[in-house]
Amino acid sequence: MRRWLELEATVSPELADPFSSFLFELGSGGIEMEEANQAVTLRAYFPEERIHRQALLRAVQRYLRAVSSKHHQLTVHQMSEENWGESWKQWFSPLAVGERLWIQPPWVSEKPPGRIALVIEPGMAFGTGHHPSTLGCLELIERAVTQGRTNYALDLGTGSGILAIALAKLGVPRVHAVDIDPDALAIARTNALRNEVAAVVQVAESWEASGVAYDCIVANLYRNALEELAHKIHLHLEPLGSFICSGFLVSDEPSICSAYAQLGFTVEQRWERETWVALWFRKKRP
Ligand SMILES: C[S@@+](CC[C@H](N)C(=O)[O-])C[C@H]1O[C@@H](n2cnc3c(N)ncnc32)[C@H](O)[C@@H]1O
Repeated sequence: MRRWLELEATVSPELADPFSSFLFELGSGGIEMEEANQAVTLRAYFPEERIHRQALLRAVQRYLRAVSSKHHQLTVHQMSEENWGESWKQWFSPLAVGERLWIQPPWVSEKPPGRIALVIEPGMAFGTGHHPSTLGCLELIERAVTQGRTNYALDLGTGSGILAIALAKLGVPRVHAVDIDPDALAIARTNALRNEVAAVVQVAESWEASGVAYDCIVANLYRNALEELAHKIHLHLEPLGSFICSGFLVSDEPSICSAYAQLGFTVEQRWERETWVALWFRKKRP
């Protein structure tokens, strides 16, 4: 049976967001935050086969030492898949997103009339839609797809497949979903089947070799990856195409905007929640 690591740390409120961004970048599939007595306790979950307990502890200790002189209490527990599944099921409740979307786990069947259901079982992959970065991408995808026709979209870093499935269910006829993590690819395929969009969503390991241009690219990654990929994204996006991204905090926004502005992108719309930002960029005309 698969095992999970639950990392628990209590930090001052001003550190909570950057710390959660760091844990997100380290590959945590889910992060809970609880505020009490002017401190915030974060619980982050990592599949044990992806990160060793000692490596996780060392990385977090190094991070906390670099950002604060205080001593932080850190614990890392092992959890079985069964316990993890039960604990995380408690906080994966159905959620209305934007004007038209509705995210629900497979064990819930009711859906408000008129909303499009995205049935997501993230397993070890990231993407229940409850993280502000996923939520921001979904809202901007809904707006972009409603505003103009999208023919071929790329979901870069698909995780559970949630953004690719949203694109397909909002009517995009061809969606390419990629991830560097083979577990995520398997989970995204299962979720595409579960949502009956497997014929539209092509799940694959790579995209650069495809030589095609998309009219919409979405990427919920993190700051460094978004900056490193800027040229490739520019190359594979059609003129006037949309690029929707998230996975970074307000403090990183100027740097992301500058990387994309240098390539001629302009910001079409901006979304922010709990200091996480999502941006919808438009590529310039030829
Ligand atoms: C934060 S999760 C986003 C998951 C989902 N798209 C969402 O919005 O909830 C980021 C995903 O990107 C993948 N990833 C990270 N770097 C990548 C890269 N350079 N190319 C493709 N996938 C990448 C990770 O394996 C992870 O599944």
